[in-house]
Amino acid sequence: MDKGLLAITRRRLLTGAAAGSAALLAGCASGEGAVRAEPDGKKGGLAGAFHTPHLTVGADTARSVTVEWVNPGVDRLELRAAGSGTLLKSIESPARGVTLEGLGFPLHAVQLTGLDPAASYEYRIGESGRWHGFRTASDSAVRALVFTDTQSKDLFKTWKKIYRAAQKQQPGADFSTVLGDLVDMGSKLGYWEDWFAAVRPGAMSQPIAPVMGNHECYRMRPGERHFSRTFPAPYLEFFTVPGNGVPGLERWFYTFDSGPVHFVVLNTQWLDAEDFRPGLLASMKAWFLEKGRKTDRPWTVVLMHKDIMHYPSAKKPGLKVGFSKTGRALMPLFEDSGVDLVLAGHLHTYRRRGHIRNFRRAASGPCYFVCGVAGNLPHDIAAVHKLDIVRGTRPELGNYLLLEADSGRLSVKCFLPDGREFDRAELVKKGGAA
Ligand SMILES: [Fe+2]
Ligand SMILES: [Fe+2]
Repeated sequence: MDKGLLAITRRRLLTGAAAGSAALLAGCASGEGAVRAEPDGKKGGLAGAFHTPHLTVGADTARSVTVEWVNPGVDRLELRAAGSGTLLKSIESPARGVTLEGLGFPLHAVQLTGLDPAASYEYRIGESGRWHGFRTASDSAVRALVFTDTQSKDLFKTWKKIYRAAQKQQPGADFSTVLGDLVDMGSKLGYWEDWFAAVRPGAMSQPIAPVMGNHECYRMRPGERHFSRTFPAPYLEFFTVPGNGVPGLERWFYTFDSGPVHFVVLNTQWLDAEDFRPGLLASMKAWFLEKGRKTDRPWTVVLMHKDIMHYPSAKKPGLKVGFSKTGRALMPLFEDSGVDLVLAGHLHTYRRRGHIRNFRRAASGPCYFVCGVAGNLPHDIAAVHKLDIVRGTRPELGNYLLLEADSGRLSVKCFLPDGREFDRAELVKKGGAA
């Protein structure tokens, strides 16, 4: 690979993308969408952002993880037990040539499998690279950090602050998930560069389970004032998530297991993707019923972007509080499939709803949360639904969730960025620990 391709300044990367504010044409129900200003004067390029590897969840976080990086001419990954001088694996990973925004670069992805549960390892890129440590999850419990809507107009400073605070306040998480809208405009490499910079060094040692949001499907051409929909190529390239076996929709939705929990990552962008992936909802439903929901783990947790409800907002003041198209399409599936918990984003504010079945309060139904916001685009949603039990702070301060589970109990705690616990709920499995 030509190293010259990588020696491209940040300004070059951003050429062709509109700057300044813009209203959202096809945006979130709650009215987000102004585009940040360009980072004038900041130097760097794709190489600088992606030379540092990041981890993505494997199919079983106790036994697998995927290491991804951009680095021309450095094709080898070495693995050893933590502190050991003996290599366990030395894997050649030919680069996958990728072209995004007219820029070609090499992407590497190595899926490490056959690892031991609850074990500490170290890996390095190249034979003289720096060693990075990571730990596999256990089979008996899971501890995960949950973020959403990290899209920002502040060069991801808020996201970086919340991510780092959470890592410090809740050490030892097995993985982090981001429930969509990672960036404001998914087509723009400069945003991804900043996003990955914000999660360094944490994502070098703790895998991320990404969820696609509607903003991953947005672009803005030169001279345009509104977002338009586009194929979410950067998101799909940068996260090598476990395969789903669905032709044309690999990486759009997937499952992975962590301890006692089967996680199902769904894609709620079927309207945004209609031009380039028609039939996404039907294909995903068929996959979910045939494969996605099947598990021998005690708990099933759905991670998805768009929420089951919508509310009136500044951009859509006439909207009535109620169940969204997403909720009406997916909630019946969850009720028939033993889903215990559903975590969504998109609203940029926090809601705990409790258990719902057949669109009513019912203890036998799945438990629903809207995670909140971890970028600097909070929404003040005044309206409440009668099924909302707890709402986010006003003004919205941002937050993250901590999900912990063993075979008998599953808890979700909501923390503000300063570490104060704001809310919590616990589910107990029938037959589990009392
Ligand atoms: Fe969002
Ligand atoms: Fe969204």
